[in-house]
Amino acid sequence: MTEVATAAPIASATTSPRPTRKGRFVTFEGGEGAGKSSQVAHLAERLRGRGLGVVVTREPGGSPGAECVRHVLLAGAGEVFGPLAEACLFAAARADHVDVTIRPALKRGAWVVCDRFYDSARVYQGGGGVDPEMLRLLEDVAVDEVRPDLTVLLDVPVEVGLARAGLRRGESDADRFEREDPAVHEARRRAFLDLAAAEPERFVVVDATAPPSVVAAQIWHAVTERLGVPQLREAE
Ligand code: TYD
Repeated sequence: MTEVATAAPIASATTSPRPTRKGRFVTFEGGEGAGKSSQVAHLAERLRGRGLGVVVTREPGGSPGAECVRHVLLAGAGEVFGPLAEACLFAAARADHVDVTIRPALKRGAWVVCDRFYDSARVYQGGGGVDPEMLRLLEDVAVDEVRPDLTVLLDVPVEVGLARAGLRRGESDADRFEREDPAVHEARRRAFLDLAAAEPERFVVVDATAPPSVVAAQIWHAVTERLGVPQLREAE
């Protein structure tokens, strides 16, 4: 997690009726190898270029306590306890992350850009058989009122995503969630698209097979359109 101190906006926002000084919460979602982490970094840089304070964070993790739980989860140590216990571990990590990192940042007016959030739990743990009502309860307890203003879904065909994830990983082992069957990854892709269709006002779906610069431009368009970003005085 990195942070840049909040700087005064360069000029006032033009596209959003909401005040620019209040923090904004943007999450990125998608399957393996969708390119989330580089697009998260790219968006954060661009927002900083507008003089905004930005916190880049991720799930599972994003606070010291949640990073410990991340280690347990990705190593697969939670798997033996079953899907519900794993869902509880994700929720515990999320509760700490929200309390320690996200809520304070939004309160002081920073933009929070997070690689995965509760939509991943809805898709991964929901797809793993955990009762949706139980997931909803866990979600409510973990996040309280801290919900994303915008969620960017990077959509990529499963075979493309898994090939990219394999290249990125190199010699190291796939984590507990990457190693699953292509059919499981396909179901997750569908589930993310269904979530996006159910909440079009929160989601933007971006075709992540496009070149990274095109993907980044589409994300920037959605962020500026929907959330309002301070204008630069000079042309970018
Ligand atoms: P990570 O190494 O962060 O991978 P990625 O680059 O795919 O984001 O691994 C996080 C894994 O944890 C990923 O496979 C998705 C899974 N996950 C859940 O199952 N539930 C959750 O709530 C979250 C946040 C992640």
